[in-house]
Amino acid sequence: MKHLLSAGDLTRDEAVLILDTAGQMAATQAREIKKLPTLRGRTVVNLFFEDSTRTRISFETAAKRLSADVINFSAKGSSVSKGESLKDTALTLQAMGADAVVIRHQASGAPQTLAASGWTHGAVVNAGDGTHQHPTQALLDAYTLRRHLVGAGGTRDTTGRDLDGLHVAIVGDVLHSRVARSNVQLLHTLGAQVTLVAPPTLVPVGVEAWPCDVSYRLDDVIADGKPDAVMMLRVQRERMSSAGGGFFPSPLEYTRGYGLDARRLEALPEHAIVLHPGPMNRGLEISADAADSPRAVIVEQVANGVAVRMAVLYLLLAGGPTTPAATPQPTSNRSAE
Ligand code: CP
Repeated sequence: MKHLLSAGDLTRDEAVLILDTAGQMAATQAREIKKLPTLRGRTVVNLFFEDSTRTRISFETAAKRLSADVINFSAKGSSVSKGESLKDTALTLQAMGADAVVIRHQASGAPQTLAASGWTHGAVVNAGDGTHQHPTQALLDAYTLRRHLVGAGGTRDTTGRDLDGLHVAIVGDVLHSRVARSNVQLLHTLGAQVTLVAPPTLVPVGVEAWPCDVSYRLDDVIADGKPDAVMMLRVQRERMSSAGGGFFPSPLEYTRGYGLDARRLEALPEHAIVLHPGPMNRGLEISADAADSPRAVIVEQVANGVAVRMAVLYLLLAGGPTTPAATPQPTSNRSAE
């Protein structure tokens, strides 16, 4: 694996390797000294053209925990506002010696362009591009599902290596969601059954070619499908022209049809968990009751994101599938963070 551009590029073995490696990384993060020397001397550039809280901070944390040097670039306040292109921005950062470029961009396909361009010699990691892909979000979601639902402590007696037989409902603004696209691909690769639930206006054209079922009725999916997990999607109002942008009659009607509230939470199977990639629109796609319930693993998803991104950076930059945590040599906490 030279780059991580799309969840659809991952084979089952590659995905499982990342999840297993993330498990090893997470174990090191329970220690008093969390820092590993693995990527000492390597430089990771976080190149963010679009806003982010969780992804940007967790990639930065992951790179620092592996002792990489980190350059954070945000388009706001940079020469991008003077019209500098992606090419010239990338060439400038390459001149700083980037070994990996983590890129978030509002344009679908920007990471693929960067990887194919030769503007950077480093590994390219897609941290979210337009409405297209967000592969590390899907990986951290799969890691979270695995921890809660598979193997020891889970409801499924599998090898603990994949998600065979799990039913995951992905609910909401599928049309604008790179999280949904990446999750459908990765969950399918890992053996899960996925049902997309959305109003017809928020279902993408061509969805029948995706490896999943589609429903317009959340209550039916909860009652009949008995999902093991419900992944709520953010209503992406910034990608709509007004509050609902004509995609739904009113926020209240959206919430009635597709919001997760206490009643729907109660109707889920006892073991089912609730995910949300964040940021949440509380009161729209998820009520405070549901978001703050013990079944919600939303904050844990963020923590798992650090371990998963450590695994991705390690596998891309440290040269392959050896055991990263088998012989970690913690460095001093006094090293620069
Ligand atoms: N889940 C996610 O991508 O969140 P951010 O936009 O805050 O990075």
